[in-house]
Amino acid sequence: MMIGLRKYTTKRPPTSIITLAFVVCFVIIIYIFSTPTSTPRSDKCSFYSSEGCRTRDLFPNAYFSRELTDPEIESRVVVKELLNFVPIQTTTPKVAFMFMTPGSLPFEKLWHLFFQGHEGKFSIYVHASKEKPRHVSRYFLGREIHSEPVSWGSFAMVEAERRLLANALLDPDNQHFVLLSDSCVPIRHFEFVYSYLLYTNVSYIESFLDPGPHGNGRFIEHMLPEVELKDFRKGSQWFSMKRQHAVIVIADNLYYTKFKYHCRPNMEGGRNCYSDEHYFPTFFHMLDPGGISNWSVTYVDWSEGKWHPRTFGARDVTYNVVKALTSFDQSPHITSEPKRTVLMTPCMWNGSKQPCYLFARKFYPDALERLMHLFYNTTSI
Ligand SMILES: *[C@@H]1O[C@H](CO)[C@@H](O)[C@H](O)[C@H]1NC(C)=O
Ligand SMILES: *[C@@H]1O[C@H](CO)[C@@H](O)[C@H](O)[C@H]1NC(C)=O
Ligand SMILES: *[C@@H]1O[C@H](CO)[C@@H](O)[C@H](O)[C@H]1NC(C)=O
Ligand SMILES: *[C@@H]1O[C@H](CO)[C@@H](O)[C@H](O)[C@H]1NC(C)=O
Repeated sequence: MMIGLRKYTTKRPPTSIITLAFVVCFVIIIYIFSTPTSTPRSDKCSFYSSEGCRTRDLFPNAYFSRELTDPEIESRVVVKELLNFVPIQTTTPKVAFMFMTPGSLPFEKLWHLFFQGHEGKFSIYVHASKEKPRHVSRYFLGREIHSEPVSWGSFAMVEAERRLLANALLDPDNQHFVLLSDSCVPIRHFEFVYSYLLYTNVSYIESFLDPGPHGNGRFIEHMLPEVELKDFRKGSQWFSMKRQHAVIVIADNLYYTKFKYHCRPNMEGGRNCYSDEHYFPTFFHMLDPGGISNWSVTYVDWSEGKWHPRTFGARDVTYNVVKALTSFDQSPHITSEPKRTVLMTPCMWNGSKQPCYLFARKFYPDALERLMHLFYNTTSI
């Protein structure tokens, strides 16, 4: 038997090497001639990779230049199911207003005016990361959720956003979820905001490609293979999200973990990445690009090109200024290259161009009285 085997193994190699070489050449030739250079699609799966075929069968309309990893397939399958699943429509749909603040809310009185008379159509959640807020409005009493310290740009910001979403999801009436800060104010009356957010089929999440140092320059290779540079997006953290997307965020573990460990300040080489500006814009760009607006309903003025956006004080708050904020029907995204390209997104709502903004930031607390006056005495906003 030993002899037979040895005989077999010593005799066999030359033939098998020739056969193998022949097969390899054949495959290479077929590959070269069957792959159109202009569209390197995953079609090549059809004859040598059953894994690639599985990927293509699952996502027939998507283009993947590589095989998906196991966690990636698991994640995409869950997201795909959730996207096909229509959330239960309750008879009393509400908008969840989620406030991220260190402590007391300087514009609580203004928000009170905003909510007054609309009981049953909203719920409020407050994540106070530093100290227990003192409330001046009964709508805010007892609305704090458990919170953890949050420092600027840290991943704790994303954790707090998820905590707010999870708490707000507990109420099945909440159909749309808005994230606001202590320096955000409403620039529209409640009914307008309510219809705008509820009778829509998208989430208002800003997402754009910034090739500059504060965009793609923050990408860290450890996020590969699941997060590729070509998919890396940037956007404001102040989102609004439909219920379906809020559930998808809570279900996500793969991308959440990738950003948690590889997109944070002070990474290797002194590089900074801020998950609150990249996780949702990248995640939704990859998993449901048609389901997001790509702009945010919260106005902010970055035109001064500084580290922080322009902040409005009492003297800046006039009827004409607020009116102007409510009139924009396209939203700018400024890239961080030396040229600072401004990309404009038209604000489409149910197929036609509409005003972009429902809220605005940032405002100094001294703007409160003037904002109250305008809000109360102006019906046209
Ligand atoms: C959206 O547009 C369609 C077609 O123009 C219209 O029938 C429908 O009522 C609109 N929906 C809302 C909520 O305005
Ligand atoms: C949302 O509605 C618009 C207009 O009715 C439609 O064109 C678009 O495909 C819808 N998007 C989603 C994600 O359902
Ligand atoms: C948002 O941008 C993506 C491309 O990144 C595009 O596919 C999608 O249609 C855009 N969303 C809307 C509502 O236009
Ligand atoms: C509305 O305007 C009137 C007249 O200028 C003023 O007395 C009142 O205080 C204003 N309301 C608020 C809430 O500022």
